[in-house]
Amino acid sequence: MNTFAYRYPVTVYFGEKAAEKNLPSELKKVGKNVMLAYGGGSVKKNGVYDELMNLLTTAGKNVTEFTDIMSNPTYAKVQEGARLARESKIDFILAVGGGSVIDCCKVVSAQAKTDDDLWELETVKHGSPADFIPMGAVVTAFGTGAEMNNGAVITNEEKKVKGPLWGAFYDFAILDPTYTMTMPINQVISGSFDALSHCMETYMGTPRETNLSDEINEACQRNIIRNLRATLKNPQDIEVRSELVWASAMGENGILKIGKVTDFQAHMLEHQLGAYTDCNHGQGLAVIHPVLYRYMLSEAAPQFARLAVNVWGVDPVGKTETDLANAFLDALASFIKEVGLPTTFTEMGISADTDYVAIADSTVLTGGCCKKFTKDELLAVLYACR
Ligand code: NZQ
Ligand code: ZN
Repeated sequence: MNTFAYRYPVTVYFGEKAAEKNLPSELKKVGKNVMLAYGGGSVKKNGVYDELMNLLTTAGKNVTEFTDIMSNPTYAKVQEGARLARESKIDFILAVGGGSVIDCCKVVSAQAKTDDDLWELETVKHGSPADFIPMGAVVTAFGTGAEMNNGAVITNEEKKVKGPLWGAFYDFAILDPTYTMTMPINQVISGSFDALSHCMETYMGTPRETNLSDEINEACQRNIIRNLRATLKNPQDIEVRSELVWASAMGENGILKIGKVTDFQAHMLEHQLGAYTDCNHGQGLAVIHPVLYRYMLSEAAPQFARLAVNVWGVDPVGKTETDLANAFLDALASFIKEVGLPTTFTEMGISADTDYVAIADSTVLTGGCCKKFTKDELLAVLYACR
């Protein structure tokens, strides 16, 4: 096992009525001016907005609303939020939504406190923001686990890059599975696949021999697969949904990453696909994963074989490592079809004239993957996904 340091700064309040039970005491710790941040309006339709607004006004807060945060949040939207936070002298940000709102606010919290351009500071000067507006997250869409980490995936439209910016950790995260019950079913499916992808991308890193983090990881993968199937049969089953919400959080709360250097090559490629096409994140991953993994077969066979047996329940008797690795690839591909995820970029509605050369050229090559991809190989993967 690699050496590691582990600390986890986010207080998680999980379960039904978690906001009602815990937000009042959390709000006592913060200043009067609160930014309530949300997306395109689902929170207004499902009652979450009214419930939170009531808790905020009862706590005597002055509320400033930062609205219309889009899926795949842009750097321009971050700047809009930071301006608003400065003008309104915001003391605390309450981010309410899925990964997009939660990520956008991580960077707003840092950008509002500095005149430096954060993109320039982090990606060119390799500095880090030091000062943040404190924040809380209320999760309404599960999958990304964004509430559990301090990385924000932001699209810089001018530079055509969708990449990570490092912001603050949330002081607390409210995970009430009932808030996710109105998610569109396609988002339930793509969010679940995103969570499965985070587990796989972590598993495929180094070290590659069996270790405790990977054994916990295998349990998370089995849980997501089982519960995605179950939620498709009965989308209103709150127990099943609760498992998916927590499994998604587990994917990104650092526990599976303990002692590991992660892979995340599929994510790097999907993020650049997103920079050029604004596509749905989980769907992009579903198309890319099986194709990318076929390219890794010879290097990744021992890990793929373990996944076949320990996650997908393939009987190992009489099978070689290569047989099992292929069985994993087949199981993953057929699961993607079974749950109704797309299998090609065309099915996702991505235009045929997309600049795949530029996407491959601008994709970060990751360090933890057992195969070191070249840009040409990534281009071949993208072409095979069309
Ligand atoms: O905008 P509203 O109207 O709220 O609608 C949203 C949005 O259209 C809707 N929604 C959310 N909760 C709902 C709901 N609709 C009905 N009922 C509810 N309870 O769902 C749609 C998608 O929301 P979004 O936040 O965009 O989805 P997701 O959670 O998948 O987040 C995607 C973003 O997170 C990034 C992705 O790249 C993408 O930008 N990621 C962040 C990660 C991180 N920080 O750790 C890790 C991931 O790998 C990922 O890259
Ligand atoms: Zn993801």
